[in-house]
Amino acid sequence: MSAPDTLERDQEPADEHLTMGIDPWEKNWMLVSIVLLVAFAAAITVAGFAAGFQLPGEESEVDPRTVATEGPWSEPGLRELGEGRYEAYILAQAWNFAPRELIVPVGAEVDIYVTSPDLQHGFKITDTNVNMQIVPGQVSKLSFTFDEIGEFPYICTEYCGSAHAAMWGTVQVVSEADFEAAQSGDTDTTDATVEAEG
Ligand code: CUA
Repeated sequence: MSAPDTLERDQEPADEHLTMGIDPWEKNWMLVSIVLLVAFAAAITVAGFAAGFQLPGEESEVDPRTVATEGPWSEPGLRELGEGRYEAYILAQAWNFAPRELIVPVGAEVDIYVTSPDLQHGFKITDTNVNMQIVPGQVSKLSFTFDEIGEFPYICTEYCGSAHAAMWGTVQVVSEADFEAAQSGDTDTTDATVEAEG
């Protein structure tokens, strides 16, 4: 009985020495980590509450059960708001985007509203910084100015089921003249393009 007691008492100072000793370098790194964490938390707080930075999207809420049949998404597509200003309503659903093609005149500033009636999807326009998460019941919004003539495919970036890879469409940025032409012969142009794409 007395032998273990002696052993324990003898070991105490050694234990204390091991646990209490913090290497000065380790202490400095701990301090740096704490300072960085506080700085990051402060930066997020200032950006979010004082400077008004928010995550892209989260514009408003809609009822996912009726969004495809009532309101602006029942007729998805591009609408003119004013000189050079447009809005686009896009429905992301399993497994396509409505519309599949958006014809936009070059220089147009477009407010893009996307929502989903079913699953979580993604909406990314290639070669732009338009990239949003699409959640049923939530409206995601970003504004973008299309300064370059060309084809900009949009794709679903969140895995949403068996035909996820087929979920894509195209923004056609065209000259003002081509835009006028497309407007006047709207359905013909769209049908021809869809057929050509197969
Ligand atoms: Cu929709 Cu992936």
